[in-house]
Amino acid sequence: MKILCPKCKKELFLIEKAYKCENKHSYDLSKEGYLNLNLKNSQNTGDNQLMIKARRDFLEKGYYDFLRIELDKLIKKSDSLIDLACGEGYYTSFFKAQDKIGIDLSKTGLKIASKNDKSTLYLLNSIFHNPLEDKCADKIVTIFAPIAKQEIVRLLKDDGLFILVKPDEYHLYELKQVIYDKPYLNEVDEIEIDGLKLSDEIKIQSKVNILKQDLMNLFLMTPYYNTSSKKDKDKLNSISNLDITLSFIIDVYQKSN
Ligand SMILES: C[S@@+](CC[C@H](N)C(=O)[O-])C[C@H]1O[C@@H](n2cnc3c(N)ncnc32)[C@H](O)[C@@H]1O
Repeated sequence: MKILCPKCKKELFLIEKAYKCENKHSYDLSKEGYLNLNLKNSQNTGDNQLMIKARRDFLEKGYYDFLRIELDKLIKKSDSLIDLACGEGYYTSFFKAQDKIGIDLSKTGLKIASKNDKSTLYLLNSIFHNPLEDKCADKIVTIFAPIAKQEIVRLLKDDGLFILVKPDEYHLYELKQVIYDKPYLNEVDEIEIDGLKLSDEIKIQSKVNILKQDLMNLFLMTPYYNTSSKKDKDKLNSISNLDITLSFIIDVYQKSN
C-alpha cells in the first residue's frame, strides 16, 4: 500500500530508516519501528500507558484468543490489510497479509506493537485523516474502537471487506453485576455506513473464569472504568475470580457501488 506524504501527498519511500518523498520531506522511523506521520498537535493522543498496559497484560492471558481466531478465519490470507485503531497490535500481529498496516494515535501502543511485530508497518496517525492512497486495501478491521466511516469507504478496494467488532448485549454482564447496583445490558445498534452494505453478522460467545489479577486489567480496558466511583471500583478487590460472559458481534461489510 502506498503511503503518502502528509505535507505534499507524494508517495513516500523507505530509504534506510526514514520514509522520504520526492520533495525531500522525510520522516524517521522510531527506534521501535513505527512511523509518526501525525503532524497535527491533536489533543487526542490515544490510549494512555495505564490502559495499554492493562490491555496487553489481559490479552496476553489468552481470554480473547477465540475472537482473534474467528477474525483470522475471515481475513484468511489477504493481500492488503489495515487495522484502524490497532492499539498495541494484539490482533494486527496475528493476522496474515502480504501488506499490513496498523494505525493508532497511542505512542505507547505503537511502541509495543512495532517492537514485537515486524510483519506490520505501524503508523502513528489519526484514523480519521490517514496518509494512505484511495482504494488500497482488500480488508480493513476496526476492533472496539471509533469507526472512521468515510476513511474506510475511501481506503477499501471495490471488492473490499470491512470487518467491525463490537460488544454484544451480555458482554461482561457479570462484571457489571459486581460493580453496579443496577447492571444494564449493552446497547447494540446496527451501524450504517454509506457506501458499504452489511453482508454478514457473526456472533460468538464464551464464558471464562477470570482470575483476580486479571479482573482489574479487564475493567481498565472498558469504558466503565472512567465512569465508576472509587467505591464501585473497590468492589472488584474483594473477589478472587469471576465467571464472565464474553460476547462479540463481528459485522462484515462489503463495498456497494
Ligand atoms: C479500546 S482500544 C482498541 C484497540 C485494539 N483495536 C484492540 O482491540 O486491542 C481503542 C484504540 O483506539 C485508539 N484511538 C482512539 N481514537 C483514535 C483516533 N482518532 N485515531 C487513531 N486511533 C485512535 C486508541 O489509542 C486505542 O488504541
